[in-house]
Amino acid sequence: MFTSLPATTRRQISRSSLSSRELANCELGQPQPLRGQQRKISDHANFYRNKQLELYAVKEARRLTLRQLVWFGRFMTRERLITSANYVRTELPIRISHRLRDMQAIPYVVMTREGVSKVYELYWSAFEKLRKYPEIETLEDNTAFCAFLREMLDEHGPVIPSLSLGLSLSSHFLAPERLDSFMRRMLVSRISRRVLAEHHLALSSAFHGRDRDPDGGDHVGIIYTNLKVKDCIQRCVRYLSESADQPPEGPDPGKAFFKKPNVVIDGQLDTEFSYIREHLEYIVFELLKNSIRATALHHHAATTSPEVRATIAASKDDISIRISDQGGGLSNVKTPSDLFSFSHVRNSERLNDSRLGALRDASQSTEGLMATVAEQLDKKRSRRPVPLAGDDQPDPAQRVGADVRARIGIGLPMSNIYARYFGGSLELVSLDGWGTDVYVRLPKLGTNLEGIEV
Ligand code: COI
Repeated sequence: MFTSLPATTRRQISRSSLSSRELANCELGQPQPLRGQQRKISDHANFYRNKQLELYAVKEARRLTLRQLVWFGRFMTRERLITSANYVRTELPIRISHRLRDMQAIPYVVMTREGVSKVYELYWSAFEKLRKYPEIETLEDNTAFCAFLREMLDEHGPVIPSLSLGLSLSSHFLAPERLDSFMRRMLVSRISRRVLAEHHLALSSAFHGRDRDPDGGDHVGIIYTNLKVKDCIQRCVRYLSESADQPPEGPDPGKAFFKKPNVVIDGQLDTEFSYIREHLEYIVFELLKNSIRATALHHHAATTSPEVRATIAASKDDISIRISDQGGGLSNVKTPSDLFSFSHVRNSERLNDSRLGALRDASQSTEGLMATVAEQLDKKRSRRPVPLAGDDQPDPAQRVGADVRARIGIGLPMSNIYARYFGGSLELVSLDGWGTDVYVRLPKLGTNLEGIEV
């Protein structure tokens, strides 16, 4: 019955007939009890319906550099916009097909987990819609395509918390290396698809005279061509200081945010380069937030906290940012890179009940987890302030973007992925008992291709 399917798929099907106990023995032993969280993939019989998928999955992604994205978008014409639309239309299903294949290659018991099955279904549906989408020939076609893309981007908002939830619940079924490399490919690929889609939407808006940035920063699509690093850091500091001034439930001197340290920015303050502002601000925001929180906690008994320092440096090829704090360092983690891991074996926090609860909330929220710092600064004024991180259950009104990332522990792994996306790096150095330095390096010339795993 299975002979017409590829060998890997046949192997998967026979594996899927193992009991969860047997599967657990294959990988790590002692799985989390299923506790009713397992969910059947609705179109169960068609889980491995691969005919179309195979046709796409064998194709390589046409990876791009930042420079190509800028170069193509700089002088936009009707023809170029339509070429861009058709590139996105044909490229997205290829990239999605690679991840669908990946999902088929993990144990079926993981696929049926709450969260993972939801993402699998979302991706199948996106794959089908995109591959069937007719060629774009006119500007009117492109307007309809943009509306379609926007809707899909919104629909995929909860993908990351859903996946994190599902994989945390499956942590016992997968060896840490396998779990982490799977999650990394899922995240890298998702960033890549969203970059392509958002860039095309921004190019289309600009072509029709609707600029995405009313503040007027120089940009082509979503890429800022003279991005001022200091301004990005300042924007993050501003958002963090507005976030944390007051706790939601009145004064509480035990809370870390009362003695928030100052952030000092120094180094080569006039550094600018071409980059996606949202990516840089995501990274800086997460790192500053961690440093501020660690410092406030470590010095909670003192009347003041030592400052957090953000130092900017530029060389011929790279820009670097070092965030230094005196928050006590990372002596409680085995190695700093364990903080990037999604496996409970490397990072025991992954199975905290409060984190799983927050993930469940976020995966059901319709608001995007990736709301940018700039968007959040705008929204902030109409919302109650939030604590920097922690233990409290999120108020529904606060379940967006960065505030939630703090609770579900994906900010640091995501920052690492963002930094590496166009060939940069992120390293943590702990001076145990004293503080942590984080070094972010980003290539300045924009000539690196997107990561191989798109
Ligand atoms: C995602 O956000 O996961 C996507 O794949 C979005 C893309 C289909 C536009």
